[in-house]
Amino acid sequence: MPRSLSTKTFFGLLSAIIFAVALVGIMYKYVEQRQRMRMHAAVEVGGDPRRGEAMFIQYGCGSCHALKNVRTASGMVGPPLDGVALRMIIGGHLSNNPNNMEKWIRDPQQVAPGTAMPDLNVGAGDARDITAFLYTRAK
Ligand code: HEC
Repeated sequence: MPRSLSTKTFFGLLSAIIFAVALVGIMYKYVEQRQRMRMHAAVEVGGDPRRGEAMFIQYGCGSCHALKNVRTASGMVGPPLDGVALRMIIGGHLSNNPNNMEKWIRDPQQVAPGTAMPDLNVGAGDARDITAFLYTRAK
């Protein structure tokens, strides 16, 4: 029957369109989220990413962590920190948010006793700035 065929075609097309729209929506959300992470890192964390980069270098984080475009950051002891802003979990079991990031940077031995990352006596303000800096690294 031609009528039922065209109904089928209609619904086939309709679901294809809905699928395409949903896909574009998801991609848009993803891109938007990345962008937001990057651009509002400083605001969300309340720290100064520029100072954070200087602190990252000063505390010698780069002796263990590789990070693109940072002088001296070529260490291979810990994981590379490129893209750390988009990671779900840090330090093995903490969900990745500004509070936990600061906690990890200040006191990794308390978060994960025995971890190879040492406590470096990072001050609270320094940890906040380093966190802001790391959250600018979405890739
Ligand atoms: C002596 C080497 C060493 C130094 C110095 C060091 N780290 Fe680490 N770091 C590690 C290791 C090893 C891990 C992985 C630990 C784990 O998962 O148990 C780690 C993990 C991390 C993580 C979590 C990454 C992830 O994906 O789970 C962050 C963030 C981090 N370090 C930031 C820093 C910052 C910021 C500094 C400087 C203040 C620093 N580290 C100094 C060795 C180091």
